[in-house]
Amino acid sequence: MLLHFLVLGALLFRSECYFSEEKYPEESKMQSPTVVIAIIARNTAHSLPYYLGALERLNYPKDRISVWAATDHNLDNTTAILKEWLTVMQTFYHYVEWRPMDQPTSYAGELGPKHWPNTRYEYVMKLKQAALNFARKRWADYILYADTDNILTNPDTINLLIAENKSVIAPMLDSQGAYSNYWCGITPQGYYRRTAEYFPTRYRHRMGCFPVPMVHSTMLLDLRKEGMKNLAFYPPHKDYSWPYDDIIVFAFSCRAAEIQMYLCNKERYGYLNAPAKPHQTLEDDRLNFVHLHLESMIDGPPMYPSRFVHMFPKQRDLMGFDEIYLINLRRRPDRRDRMLFSLNELEVDVKVVDAIDGNALNSSDIKILGVDLLPGYYDPVSGRTLTKGEVGCFLSHFYIWKEMVDMQMDKALIFEDDVRFQANFKRRVLRLMEEVEQMELDWDIIYFGRKQVNPGNEEPVEGIRNLVVADYSYWTLAYAISLQGAQKLVNAEPLSKMLPIDEFLPIMYDKHPNEDYKSHFPNRNVQAFSAHPLLVQPCHYAGDPEWVSDTETSTLWDDDSVQTDWRGSHKTLKGAASPPEVLSAAHRNEL
Ligand SMILES: *[C@@H]1O[C@H](CO)[C@@H](O)[C@H](O)[C@H]1NC(C)=O
Ligand SMILES: *[C@@H]1O[C@H](CO)[C@@H](O)[C@H](O)[C@H]1NC(C)=O
Ligand SMILES: *[C@@H]1O[C@H](CO)[C@@H](O)[C@H](O)[C@H]1NC(C)=O
Repeated sequence: MLLHFLVLGALLFRSECYFSEEKYPEESKMQSPTVVIAIIARNTAHSLPYYLGALERLNYPKDRISVWAATDHNLDNTTAILKEWLTVMQTFYHYVEWRPMDQPTSYAGELGPKHWPNTRYEYVMKLKQAALNFARKRWADYILYADTDNILTNPDTINLLIAENKSVIAPMLDSQGAYSNYWCGITPQGYYRRTAEYFPTRYRHRMGCFPVPMVHSTMLLDLRKEGMKNLAFYPPHKDYSWPYDDIIVFAFSCRAAEIQMYLCNKERYGYLNAPAKPHQTLEDDRLNFVHLHLESMIDGPPMYPSRFVHMFPKQRDLMGFDEIYLINLRRRPDRRDRMLFSLNELEVDVKVVDAIDGNALNSSDIKILGVDLLPGYYDPVSGRTLTKGEVGCFLSHFYIWKEMVDMQMDKALIFEDDVRFQANFKRRVLRLMEEVEQMELDWDIIYFGRKQVNPGNEEPVEGIRNLVVADYSYWTLAYAISLQGAQKLVNAEPLSKMLPIDEFLPIMYDKHPNEDYKSHFPNRNVQAFSAHPLLVQPCHYAGDPEWVSDTETSTLWDDDSVQTDWRGSHKTLKGAASPPEVLSAAHRNEL
């Protein structure tokens, strides 16, 4: 009986055990939908490494992606770069279709590589159609079109767009300005129409996914949706009478097929280079892209080049200066790196000088250096006297002037390290300095970046475009200085009667309003000019959340009990709004 019980118990136990151990495997997950990426490249050797870098970083399984790549009519190295990349990447992607065409290198009737004659529109329509046919034939779920100067820095772009479940959807891309890859309005003739929604959308005051009459450049098409069978890039719809332009032909096709285009701006997806004008050259287009690239380093997210494309080192030069200095505080390597990177992209050579760190100066050091405060100096903005940061900043500039004098350098350019470059920076510097030379201008200082204190126009300089006589100015972001100018500033012996450098300079060119300060410097004969418009801006403006001026916020120069910092010589504008127009018009007395 007992035995029987035990056996039964064991059986029961076994069977229980059996049931609890038996686990049916769960249904395995769905694979990602299949995507074709259509790459149609022409004359974009400058942006391709970044474009391809962004593609290879997309968080999407590469074995679910096929690439359809065509390139033709190139003057530059586009074909070789694309080929180099595809050769490596073909092992990762499901399939790669490669359609290069070496000849011809231009279209019939083309005025330049950035001009669009009808022959070119037609050819591009045919290519887009060929990519679409390819995707349909392979029963791909989606096709992603992305122009080769559109940099999808957001690695989740494909997933984010798929999640919206729309037939035709574009991620809003940021450019150097207002331009983007959508229209909010279209005229009855198929042209761009201005609308009230465009800017709020572009600057993300209005966020979401919106129906729009036009998206272009980068867009994802869901080929599983029934209506998509009726879409075509080529030939244009039989009723088509709008302009002969591939993006308008496609928008019309969507409209005829009753398919709504959508634009999404919920996230930052990436950048597109504002299009070059028809008469512009490839070099213009490249410089435009360099500017976009540098801006992306400041506002982020940054672009990174492909790891599989060879990039040549840049050829840098000094733009005709004897030396170009970058003043950087050692403990701000982030700023140094960004500036060196930017200047390298601009092909400008630079020498980094370690800023004198106000933080490291104590009152006895300051005495040994012969530094003393200008009697009666008092900052009307903050109501305080000189900070250690301002002392460090002044000394950093001063030692460069001295070096120039010692080495008898004709002219130098001095940068602080939080500079944002205007488009075409190098070209504009070269042209300005060439005209200065031609006109034999007697100059000591030329501001490239500063804050004009008083509103109003400054006197233009005859015979030199984009140069004005400098009025009272703040900041020393970037300026050219001549040997004669450096000599005058050193001769004024400013260390023993120091005030902030951006008060000292206006005194020396005799545009400072304070008679007391001026009385300490009898030879106020510096010839100061300013580029107009300016060639650089500060990275952040006073009032921006990130904007902290180290000189302004650091502690008093003779107080050793408190740590100080340094990062330039920017006057903060308390409560001032930030765009450059407002800044240059702001008056100290109004603050
Ligand atoms: C073109 O690109 C290929 C691949 O990156 C490179 O090997 C070649 O040197 C480049 N040629 C020129 C003229 O830049
Ligand atoms: C996506 O949209 C289709 C209609 O086009 C609809 O049938 C389907 O249920 C939607 N899918 C999801 C996940 O919402
Ligand atoms: C100031 O710093 C220097 C080193 O830079 C040091 O030798 C000196 O003793 C310091 N003086 C005071 C008063 O702390």
